[in-house]
Amino acid sequence: MLRFSLLLLLFFHSASSKLLGWVESPGYPSGYLPHASLNWSRCASKGHTLSIRLIHLDLEDSQDCENDAVKVFSNGKLISVLCGKKDFEELQSTVNPLLVSASGGCLSLSFHSDFSNIQRHTGFKGFYTVQDYDECKDDPENGCTQFCHNFIGGYHCSCRHGYHMDVDKHTCTVSCSEDLSGLNEGDISSPSWPGPYAENANCQYTLSVEAHLQLELHFSEAFDVEQSTDGQCIDTLRIETPTGTLGPFCGHTPPPSPFLTHTHHAIIHFNSDSFGKNKGFTFHFKTKDKVCPAAVSSHSTVSPQKPEYNQGDTVTVKCDIGHVLYTENDAKILSSEYETTCHSTGVWTPHYPCEPVDCGFPDIPEDGVLKVVGSHTQYKDQIQFNCSSKFYTLEGDDTYTCSASGDWVSDGGRTEMPKCNPICGIPAKNPASAGRILGGHNANLGEIPWHLLIKEPSRGGATLINDRWAVTAAHVVEKTEESSLVLYGGLTDGRTTNNPQSSNVAVMESERIIIHPGYTRDTGHAERTNFDNDIALIRFSSRVNFGPNLLPICLPEVNRGMVENEQGTVSGWGMTESTVNPKNMVTSRVLKHAQIGVYPLEQCRNTPNLETTGKRMVFTNNMFCAGAPGRDSCQKDSGGPFVLPMLSANGGPYYLTGIVSWGPPCDQRMYKGYYTKVENYVDWIKETINRIDSSEM
Ligand code: ARG
Repeated sequence: MLRFSLLLLLFFHSASSKLLGWVESPGYPSGYLPHASLNWSRCASKGHTLSIRLIHLDLEDSQDCENDAVKVFSNGKLISVLCGKKDFEELQSTVNPLLVSASGGCLSLSFHSDFSNIQRHTGFKGFYTVQDYDECKDDPENGCTQFCHNFIGGYHCSCRHGYHMDVDKHTCTVSCSEDLSGLNEGDISSPSWPGPYAENANCQYTLSVEAHLQLELHFSEAFDVEQSTDGQCIDTLRIETPTGTLGPFCGHTPPPSPFLTHTHHAIIHFNSDSFGKNKGFTFHFKTKDKVCPAAVSSHSTVSPQKPEYNQGDTVTVKCDIGHVLYTENDAKILSSEYETTCHSTGVWTPHYPCEPVDCGFPDIPEDGVLKVVGSHTQYKDQIQFNCSSKFYTLEGDDTYTCSASGDWVSDGGRTEMPKCNPICGIPAKNPASAGRILGGHNANLGEIPWHLLIKEPSRGGATLINDRWAVTAAHVVEKTEESSLVLYGGLTDGRTTNNPQSSNVAVMESERIIIHPGYTRDTGHAERTNFDNDIALIRFSSRVNFGPNLLPICLPEVNRGMVENEQGTVSGWGMTESTVNPKNMVTSRVLKHAQIGVYPLEQCRNTPNLETTGKRMVFTNNMFCAGAPGRDSCQKDSGGPFVLPMLSANGGPYYLTGIVSWGPPCDQRMYKGYYTKVENYVDWIKETINRIDSSEM
C-alpha cells in the first residue's frame, strides 16, 4: 500500500508527464535466468523528452556491473550503468533524474545477465513517460534575445516595445536605417539618442548629394560607442565611401571632425551587440564643393603646389626621377610630365600613373656565352654579367644598373653591353720539352689545342681562332663545297675520328668557306707556281664548346714583322720520313710538331724550280719561309699552324704566325717550307668575321 501511494506521488508529481508504458526484466518479479537479455528503445517527439523511472532494481552486484547490468543510452550514448540492489528512495533521488533523453531524442535500455547467479535476483521494473521540454528554462542556447515563451512541443521569442523581431525569429532589433539621399543637410544619431542605444542594432544611413558636392560630417564631442578594455570595438561605427570604408570608430573619441568624405555618396553603418548601455553618437552633415587632392599621381610632384585644388585649377605633374608615363600598352615611354585639370567632381583629368622606368632584358647575343644574373629590370635594379666558362674573359664591365633614361648603364658609365672573348693561345697543357713533322715529335693531347684535322677531300690542317671560326690555307679548301667540310678537334690520334663520341673528338661542320679574294684558284691546266694569298676562313655551322683539348690561338699583331732565325713550332698530321725506307713517306697517325726557325729573306727568295717544267716558284711579301736541318713541314701538313713563340713549358700565349702553304717535295730533304704570313691578313680576318657574324644576328 505504501508502495502504491509512493508511486502515485511520484507519478502525479509532474503533472505534465504522460505515462507511456512499462519496461521490466524477463521473468520479473520471480527472477531472471542466466543468459537473459532485453533491448528496449523509444524516441521522443520534437520539443519533448523521454524519462525512465525505475521503481525496483535487484540484480547481481559486481565490480563495474560486469556480470549482470542495466545500461541506459541517450541517442546511443551511455548515460547510466546499474546493478546490485537499490531501494525506491535511492532510485528516486540518485538514479531516475539521470535517465532523461535529449529534446526530441531517443532513450534505449539494454539488460543482460551472465551464465550464473549464486542467488536468485528479481530483476528490475520501471515505467517511462514523455514530457514537454522547456527550452526557455532548460536550453541556454534557445537564442531569444529578449523574451522566451515555452509551449508544449516548442517555444517562441518576443520583443519589448520599440523593438521588432528580426527575420531569424530570435533577435530583437530596432528599425534605424534611413535613406537620406537628396538631403544636403541634416542630423543623424544612434537609435534612442541621447538615451542608450538599442541592442542588436544594424543601422545604415544612406547619404547622397549632387556629383559636384562632397559630404562633410560634423561629429558631436559626446561620443560613446562600446569598446572592450583592450581597445577593440564591440559596437562599431563605419563610414563607407566609394573609395573604401573608414573605421570602425568606437570608445569616447569621435571620428576626426569635420570629416571630409571627398565623395557625394556615403553610407554610415552602425552595429551594436546584445549588451551594453552606451549612449552612441550624433553628427550633423552638410555639403561643400568638391576639391581635388594635392597628390595627383604617386611618384610625382605637382606645380604650382597647394594643399588642395578647386574646380578649373590646372597643374603640371612631373614624375619623379626614374618614373615615367607609359603609353596604354605599356610599351612606349610617353613622357615624364603632363598637364591636368581639376574637374568639378574632384578628380584630375587626365590622370596617368608615374611608373618606374623598365630597362627590359638587356640586348645580348643568344649564343649563351654571355650570361646575365638578375631578373629585375626596373629603375635602379642591377644585373650582373659573366661568361659561361673559364675559357672566356669578360670585356667591359660586369655590373649594370637600370638608369632613369631606360638604359642599362655600367659602373664604368658604359651603355654598350660587355662581350665574352675567348682566351686565346694558352694551352691547358704544356709540352715538357721543346719538340724537335719531318724530324718532329708526337704531340700530347691538349698541347696544341687549336690544331684541327681535315681528312676529306684531302688531308690538311686548320687552326681554331674562336668558337665559330678556323683559318686554313686556301689551296686546301678551294675545291670543297662550302658546307661539306668536316673538321676534327680535341685529338692527336687521327684514327679516333672514327669514334668521335667515345674519344671526345669535337666534330665541326663548315657553313661557309671564304677564300681570300687575292688567291688565284687552281685551273688544273698547268702546275702552279704562285700560292700568293694562300689563306681561307671556315665558319662552322654552330659554336664549338671549348675544353682543355680544344682552344683557340691568338692572331698576331699587324706589322710585327718576321724576325730572322726566330724559333717557332709547326704541327701537322702530314708526311713523315719513314725510318725503314726514306722513299716511302706516309702521313702520320699522330699529330706531330717540330721546332723550326724563320729563314732570312735571301734564302726564301731563292725559290725552287718546278721539277716537271723547270718553272720557278713565286715568292711574295705575303709569305715567309722556315725550317731547320732535318726538320720541316711536309705534304698534307698544309693549312696547319706555325706558331710563335715555339711551344715550350712557358705556356704562351701563342700566335698564329704562319700557315703551311707550299714547299719543295719533302723527299728532296731541303728542309725549307713556305708559309702564309698571317700578320698581313689580320685585318681581313677580323673584318670578314665581323661582317658575317653580324649579318647573322
Ligand atoms: N703544299 C703542301 C700540302 O698541301 C705543303 C708542302 C710543304 N712542304 C714543305 N717542304 N714544307 O700539304
